[in-house]
Amino acid sequence: MAVGTHGESFMETDPPASRGARPGSAGGGGAEGAAGREATGRDLAGLVQVADRIRGAVESVIEGKPKAVRLALTVLLAEGHLLIEDVPGVGKTMLAKALARSVDCSVRRVQFTPDLLPSDITGVSAYNQELREFEFKPGPVFANIVVGDEINRASPKTQSALLECMEERQVTVDGTTYALEPPFMVISTQNPVEMEGTYPLPEAQRDRFTARISMGYPDPASELEMLDAHGGSSPLDRLTPVAHASDVRELIEVVRRQHVAASVRQYAIDLVTATRKHPELRLGASPRATLHLVRAARAYAALDDRDYVLPDDVQELAVPVLAHRLLPTAEAQVERRRPEQVVADLVRRLPVPSPGR
Ligand SMILES: Nc1ncnc2c1ncn2[C@@H]1O[C@H](COP(=O)(O)OP(=O)(O)O)[C@@H](O)[C@H]1O
Ligand SMILES: [Mg+2]
Repeated sequence: MAVGTHGESFMETDPPASRGARPGSAGGGGAEGAAGREATGRDLAGLVQVADRIRGAVESVIEGKPKAVRLALTVLLAEGHLLIEDVPGVGKTMLAKALARSVDCSVRRVQFTPDLLPSDITGVSAYNQELREFEFKPGPVFANIVVGDEINRASPKTQSALLECMEERQVTVDGTTYALEPPFMVISTQNPVEMEGTYPLPEAQRDRFTARISMGYPDPASELEMLDAHGGSSPLDRLTPVAHASDVRELIEVVRRQHVAASVRQYAIDLVTATRKHPELRLGASPRATLHLVRAARAYAALDDRDYVLPDDVQELAVPVLAHRLLPTAEAQVERRRPEQVVADLVRRLPVPSPGR
């Protein structure tokens, strides 16, 4: 089952006291090994250093968007995929490219168009005349970071080919399965769904993205910085990698070991459950959303140099991780209530677990 694949590794790395425990059934969970936490602490220092370097590199190119940059990094470390949705010209592609370029790993970019075929993404088996056999030619999805630009311009068939690879982290062509090596992150950009000539991603596919962010216009001071920095050549060309793919794999391991108290896990479940019962939503968040929320919270806490997750991490991530998966009811749409607002309201309204692990 798709939802379970990451869930298991996620549980295995839990501290013993909470391993396999149903959220809410374990108490504070304060008994787990202090030694384990110390080890995590040491690794965490390394993580913060590397992550700061990546963040610095991306921010040297993207002006005035620290929150978007932090979220993008969070998704990378949470082994997720990122959807950047906004109007044209606000730096979506640039953010995707800057993150990809900051890490020394394989990067492929796909510009989605209506005539792109699924095999243009996954690859094809072609007959090799000399060897007299079929040979697999891997498509652009075989990279550590795949930048999928303007995904809502691709046909639904091609979109779903990419989204299948994202979820399964493997590609099957002509009966043979090829694994996609970690780190594997898809960063897709799209224009707002209202724009013409596009195929909006169906909700089942939006659910595959760990988070959706928008860029927003830069403030005037940042825009001025941009004019100065981008006047001549593109600063992207000056960006050199500040971390290796193997560093990112290690960071991902550290994030997997992050401690999440039972109370915080329960809080994530409470939030998600509330979306399923909400009168203004006709589709609530899936269990996959809960997994993504907790996984992202682990990464978010780690970036803050903390080896445990706080309810605040979950709160900060609730809108970017949950809102794009929700569908408002017809009435809510008429009243122009957006899922973002519904989630933000829930975050304000739901009781927050008290401090303590
Ligand atoms: N916040 C920003 N910081 C730096 N440059 C920006 C920013 N927003 C837009 N730009 C500039 O605008 C140009 C267009 O950005 P791009 O990433 O291609 O937009 P999009 O993909 O959103 O249509 C970039 O080349 C970049 O120079
Ligand atoms: Mg673009």
